[in-house]
Amino acid sequence: MTNKIWGGRFKSQTDPRAAEFNSSLPFDHVLYRYDIMGSKVHAAMLAKQGLLEKDEADAIVVALAEIEDEIDRGLHEFKDEYEDIHMLIEQILVKKIGNPGKKLHTGRSRNDQVALDLRLYARDMSVKILELLGELCDTFATLSKKHQNDIMPGYTHLQQAQPITLGEYFGAYLCMIQRDMSRMEDWRKRMNFSPLGAGALAGSSLPLDRKFTAQELGFSDVIKNTVDAVSDRDYLMELCGVISIIMVHLSRLSEDLIIWATQEVSFITLDDAFATGSSLMPNKKNPDVLELIRGKSGRVFGHLMSSLTIMKALPLAYNKDMQEGSECLFGVVNTVLSCLTVMIPFVNSIVFNTERMKTIASSGYLNATRILEELVLKGVPFRDAHHRVGSYIAEAMEKGCTLEDIVRLHEYTQSQ
Ligand code: ARG
Repeated sequence: MTNKIWGGRFKSQTDPRAAEFNSSLPFDHVLYRYDIMGSKVHAAMLAKQGLLEKDEADAIVVALAEIEDEIDRGLHEFKDEYEDIHMLIEQILVKKIGNPGKKLHTGRSRNDQVALDLRLYARDMSVKILELLGELCDTFATLSKKHQNDIMPGYTHLQQAQPITLGEYFGAYLCMIQRDMSRMEDWRKRMNFSPLGAGALAGSSLPLDRKFTAQELGFSDVIKNTVDAVSDRDYLMELCGVISIIMVHLSRLSEDLIIWATQEVSFITLDDAFATGSSLMPNKKNPDVLELIRGKSGRVFGHLMSSLTIMKALPLAYNKDMQEGSECLFGVVNTVLSCLTVMIPFVNSIVFNTERMKTIASSGYLNATRILEELVLKGVPFRDAHHRVGSYIAEAMEKGCTLEDIVRLHEYTQSQ
């Protein structure tokens, strides 16, 4: 017998290299709060079902609260020998209260335990992400209103296309982020089901009350099929997808702002508080924050791809490969939270050089489409009008004057 919780059938100790390799503690320790939350409710359910004495359940709940506080204060070391956060907490509990602690795992497996913890973590983090997305929407809504009359050049293919307003530009991002929020809300409805009580995969012969734990933990219901409950990581892959789309939006915005901050374009001036200098070139003021957001989006897409690839060939039910997927979840959550946290004040700090935007918008041929449409209203067939305005532009370029000058010239000649 070894010193492991599961060591009954084992004759020799785990090789330290295998222990280190198996351990998820370096990353899954972030689940401790959720693990304790789940265990408290599990203990209460066991007592309700007569599987634990009331005083045993009470002792467990009190000790778990103490353990949470101790971990908060950094009093427990995350050593590899504990294998994962679930075993670490259980062993601290047993050390603290002895026998009742040994009964906590009744009717439970780490398979339904980790499935529960990950769902609780993901659900909780989605609240934080939604809060920040809401703040970002407020920022975009304010800018959209403030700049509703500030003309700027609109681009397609990064070539000047038609005039738009700076307000419309931010209105577009407002729409994107609102859709991101609604995607996240949909995901929350779909994922909010409890795996607890599914055991290793086949439920339990003990009279567990799965509905009770689901309700206590704020789930809409239980995941009915116990094999599904421990195997499913759809919600994790889906959240990686939802967050990937948010990151696409943040990255595209970053790209535009980086271009707008170039000396050549100069549509915006970066606030010193959110820009960085160069260790060599005294003239530099760099948009590092935006570049990092753009770069971090790549890592988030990597997590999405990893989560899909980790799952794609796994036979039912639980396989240890799934532990690798947890890191994808933590990675996307941490990244999107840090990007949103800095993007909101960054956008609020930007100085918009609206005069310059207006000057650039009126200096090219951005009004070509409007002039074409005026001809259409006068009865000129669209294709003829298109051709005519095209030839006016060629003429304006040759003569080095504006499109309006050429239009006036032709109107004058026609009226003679
Ligand atoms: N640390 C594991 C994970 O994150 C917990 C589940 C382990 N289950 C098992 N049967 N080995 O997936």
